[in-house]
Amino acid sequence: MNDKRLENINILAFQEDLLQWYEENKRDLPWRENNNAYRVWVSEIMLQQTKVDTVIPYFNRFMEKYPTVYKLAEADEQEVLKQWEGLGYYSRARNLQSAVREVVESYDGKIPDNPKELGDLKGIGPYTKGAILSIAFNQPVPAVDGNVMRVFSRVLHIEEDITQTSTKKLFEYYVGEIISKEDPSSFNQAIMDLGATICTPKQPLCMFCPVMEHCQAYAEGIQERLPIKKKAKKQQKKSYVALLIQNKQGKYVIEKRPDTGLLAGLWQFPMIPADKIVKQDWEQWLRENYGLDVEIKESCTSIKHVFSHIIWNLDVRKAITKHESLEDKRLEFVSLEEMKSYPFPVSHQKMIPFLEGK
Ligand code: ADE
Repeated sequence: MNDKRLENINILAFQEDLLQWYEENKRDLPWRENNNAYRVWVSEIMLQQTKVDTVIPYFNRFMEKYPTVYKLAEADEQEVLKQWEGLGYYSRARNLQSAVREVVESYDGKIPDNPKELGDLKGIGPYTKGAILSIAFNQPVPAVDGNVMRVFSRVLHIEEDITQTSTKKLFEYYVGEIISKEDPSSFNQAIMDLGATICTPKQPLCMFCPVMEHCQAYAEGIQERLPIKKKAKKQQKKSYVALLIQNKQGKYVIEKRPDTGLLAGLWQFPMIPADKIVKQDWEQWLRENYGLDVEIKESCTSIKHVFSHIIWNLDVRKAITKHESLEDKRLEFVSLEEMKSYPFPVSHQKMIPFLEGK
């Protein structure tokens, strides 16, 4: 093997130092109580794009409500989305439930322990596949996400842009070479913990690092310059008027979002695209697009919500309507009490205190 990066590292010593540190310092996390594949799977899906501290209460509630693949498979999708409310990236929940249903139907409820069948399940990409195979089934498979790339970009001094797919493959290759064959479960979790607590994006705590002496970036004093990450494109800004439409019975109009795309399947208050429709035309636009006759009032608050690719600026307004029933299939009239059982995105949950009820 002619690879300078691997020649420069003593793999066995690296594994030993890392695993000993993990044994003594591993974080006490609820999904580490045992290596049950279902628990590992749910935790890894929740942990994508979301911090450990945020995930913990969601994970505990989810496991209480859906302790087995069977319980999750038979649950109502809207109820699962309600459990996920506030975690974001809601397609993760929908895909998880579809995949769990497939496990129940095609694999007798047993989560596959081979890469082909596991990787074919909805929402299981190379990272999640590696995490489940290594943590739950103790197979020496890499699980490479942004944190793992940060650690190894420093340990091996890799300057390739980590936003590129080819770079991720390069890291998978290296981790595959370096991962402990005796205890791949602890190895991958140790790298995750190292990335979270010591090998942090800014001001890494190299003095406390168990693998400092194996780190090529530290030896050169360039750890803070790594990893190399091309800047993401600026988010696109979109403005909407969000309407809290109440009728004489004190019910409010809510709308189910489409089954695909941003916030798929969640509920919201109807929104007018204010970038495209001028104020004089708002009420007419609602008649044409929702068959709704409303009178729109003054603005009561504005809400900004930042997604990964989009920024919403929401002008929240009350409105009244004479309707008692609704034509449009996307819409429902609900009381404040009834509203509590519908899953809403965080930006629309913030509007609920502005409702009055009856
Ligand atoms: N981040 C992603 N997966 C994790 C895990 N299993 N434990 C801790 N942090 C993580």
